[in-house]
Amino acid sequence: MNNIKELDKLKQEILNCKKCGLYKTRTNPVVGEGSQDTDIIFIGEAPGFNEDKQGRPFVGQAGKIFDELLNSISLKRADIYITNILKCHPPQNRNPTQKEIKACSVYLNNQIGIIKPKIICCLGNFATDFILKKFNLKDKIQGISKIHGQIFNISTLTGVIKIIPLYHPAVATYNMNMLETLKKDFKVLKEK
Ligand code: URA
Ligand code: SF4
Repeated sequence: MNNIKELDKLKQEILNCKKCGLYKTRTNPVVGEGSQDTDIIFIGEAPGFNEDKQGRPFVGQAGKIFDELLNSISLKRADIYITNILKCHPPQNRNPTQKEIKACSVYLNNQIGIIKPKIICCLGNFATDFILKKFNLKDKIQGISKIHGQIFNISTLTGVIKIIPLYHPAVATYNMNMLETLKKDFKVLKEK
């Protein structure tokens, strides 16, 4: 199967998923979108209010910042793939629980397996912890304020994957200094 077919099959599974309690309150699962054979995947936390309504990732305030950041390094949404750890919106934007992350992780793991990115950008603490654990770098886990903008190289059977933890773009909606920090970290990405 090619990437498009495989991702399509996964999408149908996610749209019908009831593996954790969030299916009861979601409006639309947010599968993820973008290029299906890109080298770069971005991983956020979970859909927010607007994402839940539209079924698309990063379309609210944080999404505007995200677009600005991509723009600042001459990338478009169509050049990358973007998704979240959780595919369904947690009520009141509460944090994901470990149980929900565990239930949903099969989808993200499959997305990574199909797209085979060379660079994985983790937006915020939840995505960073998940990805560092996944690639056996649990001992590198620190708060995002300590490791943002660093690059972790992982050797896999299919080549080297670079993991780059970044602040979650939502932090820049209430703190302008954070926008500058994020822009600096995106430059690190551009160099790669
Ligand atoms: N925040 C996220 O982590 N993901 C989204 O899709 C939107 C906001
Ligand atoms: Fe299924 Fe993930 Fe949605 Fe839970 S959050 S219902 S595991 S798709």
